[in-house]
Amino acid sequence: RSLTIGLIPADGIGKEVIPAAQKIIEHVIDKVDFVNLDAGFELFQKTGVALPDETVEILKKCDGALFGAVSSPSHKVAGYSSPIVALRKKMDLYANVRPVSSAKGALGKPIDMLIIRENTECLYIKSERLEKDPKTGLQTAWADRRITEYASKRIAKMAFDMALVRAKNPTIHSKPKVTIVHKSNVLSVTDGLFRESCRAVAQNPEYKDVIVEEQLVDSMVYRMFREPEVFDVVVAPNLYGDIISDGAAALVGSLGVVASANVGDNFVIGEPVHGSAPDIAGKGISNPIAAIRSAAMLLDHLGYNAEATKIKVAVDTVLTEGKTLTPDLGGKATTEQVTSKVIANL
Ligand code: NAI
Ligand code: MG
Repeated sequence: RSLTIGLIPADGIGKEVIPAAQKIIEHVIDKVDFVNLDAGFELFQKTGVALPDETVEILKKCDGALFGAVSSPSHKVAGYSSPIVALRKKMDLYANVRPVSSAKGALGKPIDMLIIRENTECLYIKSERLEKDPKTGLQTAWADRRITEYASKRIAKMAFDMALVRAKNPTIHSKPKVTIVHKSNVLSVTDGLFRESCRAVAQNPEYKDVIVEEQLVDSMVYRMFREPEVFDVVVAPNLYGDIISDGAAALVGSLGVVASANVGDNFVIGEPVHGSAPDIAGKGISNPIAAIRSAAMLLDHLGYNAEATKIKVAVDTVLTEGKTLTPDLGGKATTEQVTSKVIANL
């Protein structure tokens, strides 16, 4: 069969790392078509639209996609909202999956974690309001947090399924394990529902060989920095997942090597974790490895497991050799040189 992959480089170094990932895919798969699609803040500045309907329509006909990065401004810009956030909603990509692994992490110990962050609810439903005290004139800001049994069970199921899939290949963990992250000692209603929903899914006989653990989010951060090697699959509500997954990225070096996938039941978008890196954009020195690993995740989800493994091994070899590295990893190589080196190792 032939594969069609949508490419959305978007802004800044997205335009450098996505073409690099494309080259790698072309090298491992014979029959693949790419469709270049527009989105991003630069596009918004030119046309007033950050995510054209056409992009979404064409994307729906693709088998999967790769997204680069978007230069979202920190201040509010009238009419603008992030295209990747919109895409996650439109395509119902309810899980953000982030592998964090290294043969020798920040503490000199191996790390092999897979963080699965719920992507559709929690505090990020953006239901906020201000209230002014008529007497003092002082403001109070409120935010709603939504946790549903539906979304919590759906994300838990993905976590347990992925724990089983991972266990088929050798990992540093002797048995598959899922750690449920929450704070239900304080937020017993919202986090309580998340915890109970995950626990209910764990009861499924399919998952009888998976070890289930719980970790309060604060001590999760503490343990992750002290003994990251104990964690296998980690499942968390949106906000906690966002924070622990960026923290975990610090354990394995540069943001330039950490990949992710936005996963739904019907579609997958691979996406490097980093942003558009305006400080280095256009210099040809951005690290393509996060994007290349995101391409491997995409292929893995599309059933091209052998091809994905090939890419992962080639990337690991380049990193372990340590001779051809971009400046973020202390080297002097360009995006193109690193890409060629990965290709040479395929
Ligand atoms: P950033 O990830 O773009 O950059 C942080 C630092 O890491 C910079 O020093 C950058 O040079 C470096 N870096 C990141 N990726 C790299 C790579 N592949 N190779 C070498 N060095 C790399 O985050 P920052 O600076 O906070 O945000 C810049 C812009 O990116 C903002 O407009 C922000 O909104 C956007 N952003 C977009 C994301 C997305 O598209 N999902 C995620 C994070 C930020
Ligand atoms: Mg983040």
